[in-house]
Amino acid sequence: MAFGDEKGFGANTYFTKLDVEREARVFGEFQRRIIPDVSGLISEARLPENDDERDAYYHLYATVAAQDLFIAQSTALGLGVTDDADLQSLITRQIGDDGRHASYFRESIEFVTGRDPIKDIEANLRAHWELIGDLPRQGFLGWLAFEFDYEFYAVPEIINAAVATVGDPRLSHAGEGIYADEAFHRHFLSAWWRRHLSQQSVEKQRELIGKLLEYDRTYRALKADYYKGVITKMHRLGGWPWDVVKEITLNWHREVRDYLLPQSAHALRSFTDGVASEDAQAQ
Ligand SMILES: [Fe+2]
Ligand SMILES: [Fe+2]
Repeated sequence: MAFGDEKGFGANTYFTKLDVEREARVFGEFQRRIIPDVSGLISEARLPENDDERDAYYHLYATVAAQDLFIAQSTALGLGVTDDADLQSLITRQIGDDGRHASYFRESIEFVTGRDPIKDIEANLRAHWELIGDLPRQGFLGWLAFEFDYEFYAVPEIINAAVATVGDPRLSHAGEGIYADEAFHRHFLSAWWRRHLSQQSVEKQRELIGKLLEYDRTYRALKADYYKGVITKMHRLGGWPWDVVKEITLNWHREVRDYLLPQSAHALRSFTDGVASEDAQAQ
C-alpha cells in the first residue's frame, strides 16, 4: 500500500485531519458544474507534424515551464513566513512537484523540437517575476494570495492543455501524475485555509478576507493579458479558444473565490458553524 493512498499511511494522519476528501468532493462538484464535459474530448495528443506546430509547442511549454519554476520559487518563500507544520508539509511537497512539472515540460520540448529551451525558459521566468513583482514576498498574506492565484485558478488552463490535440503523447501520460499533484495542492491548501479561518475571531476573519480579496483583484488584473496569451498559445495546438476559456475562467474564479473567501456575514457564519460541526462529528 502506497503512502498517501486512501487506505494507506496518510489516511490516518493529516489527510483526515484536514478533511482533504471533503475538499476533493467540493472541487469535483465545481468542476462538473462549471467546466463542460471533457471526457470525450481528451484524447492522446499526436506529435506536431510541421514547423508551425513545433514552434507553437515550443513557445507554449517554454512559458508553462517558466510558470512552474516561478511557482516552485514562490512556494519556497512560504518556508520563511509560516512555522505551521501542516502547511510546511504541503509547501515542501509542492516545491518538488511543481519543480518536477517544469522539468517534464523542458524535456518534452527537447524531445518534440530537438532544441533545449532553457535560455527561453530563463527569459520567461525573469519576465514573470517582472510582471508579478514582490507580491509573493509581501509576508504571509502576499504569499498565501500567490498560492490561491496559481494553485486554484489554473484549473481551466490545465483542462485546456489536456484537450489540445497536438502535443507529446509521453506528456499526456505524465499528465495523470501532474493532475493528481495539482489536485493534492488545491485540496490540501483549501482544507488547511478553511480550518485556519474558522479558528479566528469574526473581526480577524473579516480582516483576512478583505486583504486577500484585495490581493486577488491585484493578481487577476496583473495576470489578465498573460493568461489570455497562454490560452491563445494552447489554441494553436487544438485547445479551446480564448472566448470559450474566458467564460469558464470567470465562473470558476468567482465560485472558488467565494468558497475560500466568503464575504457576507451569513456565508461566513454558516461556514464557521459548518467547519465546527464537522470537527465535532469527527471526534
Ligand atoms: Fe505544477
Ligand atoms: Fe501546483
